[in-house]
Amino acid sequence: MKVFPTLPKPYDDREYGASYLGDALTLLDTIPDNSIDLVLTSPPFALTREKEYGNKSSDKYVEWFLPFARKIKDKLCETGSFILDLGGAYLPGAPARSIYQFEVLVHLCRELNFILAQEFYHYNPSRLPAPAEWVNVRRCRVKDSVNVVWWLARTKFPKADNRKVLKEYSASMKSLLRKGYKAKKRPSGHDISTKFSKDNGGAVSSNVIGLEHFEPSNLLSIANTESNSAYLRRCREQNITPHPARFPVFFAEYFIKFLTDEFDVVLDPFAGSNSTGFAANSLKRRWVSFELSEEYLRGAKLRFERAPEDNLHTRDTKTPMTKGLFSDSEKTINAKAK
Ligand SMILES: C[S@@+](CC[C@H](N)C(=O)[O-])C[C@H]1O[C@@H](n2cnc3c(N)ncnc32)[C@H](O)[C@@H]1O
Repeated sequence: MKVFPTLPKPYDDREYGASYLGDALTLLDTIPDNSIDLVLTSPPFALTREKEYGNKSSDKYVEWFLPFARKIKDKLCETGSFILDLGGAYLPGAPARSIYQFEVLVHLCRELNFILAQEFYHYNPSRLPAPAEWVNVRRCRVKDSVNVVWWLARTKFPKADNRKVLKEYSASMKSLLRKGYKAKKRPSGHDISTKFSKDNGGAVSSNVIGLEHFEPSNLLSIANTESNSAYLRRCREQNITPHPARFPVFFAEYFIKFLTDEFDVVLDPFAGSNSTGFAANSLKRRWVSFELSEEYLRGAKLRFERAPEDNLHTRDTKTPMTKGLFSDSEKTINAKAK
């Protein structure tokens, strides 16, 4: 589906959206202003060393990124959101961190007048311990397991509903709901009223994305799932280089559910393996994805050709996020991995 008639010929056309091959800076001009409900993206991060898809060094990052962000702001509708996932970086030759992610945030808010709605942390325990020199050899730094995720918006009240991304209640909360709760003052002085014992169908999720998927019972699951995913298998079968820095589909699903409704428009200007477009398509949101590398877009097409049993992360919007995350075949794989 071509979401806007102004877009060029798609590279891959699907039920609710399409991907386009080219430079996002140019392609963004083919989208009408005020038309996008959610921009969800993970641009190439600033890295100490250059990666294969043209990552910038941290000192040049803001200058490189701002022209994209300026256009993104124009394309967002008034109630729209911009989710920006950024990994951290070390300065060259030193166990000292770059502050580029924070510089980006300050520039986006001060120069382009974006509002910071909330900051999130994307937890990924399967990240390798790096740089080896500081973490494994000299042992003076620990493993970096989070990306920062800036939730930006044009206004202080972007469209959002946390009831669409409820978590499963903890065992203690379930027991409390069963047995009832006596209103009392907590040691902190907070008055907890009887409203606390109302079953809202799940708990409000936190701003650490991914943590709930790594409880002891499925600690190995996500890393294992990704390395066994249909996407990687099909890339191997068809001799296509898989994208080296994908975000998990559940990450895209979380923000799409939280911040949009069915048939809203989701844009990923740095689509890579098109996790965003795939999640949007499954959730019946219209979508537009841009990507510079044809190799990555060829691989991305394979996501849509997965067998139904491979659709591991797609859930209906009423089910709490942790329920139904793993299919039976996946649980078997996870059990074997343990
Ligand atoms: C971190 S990756 C995105 C990964 C993606 N979130 C996924 O789950 O597969 C960033 C992508 O941006 C692409 N890219 C870099 N510069 C671009 C540009 N000017 N226009 C469009 N895509 C670009 C790179 O080729 C790379 O695939």
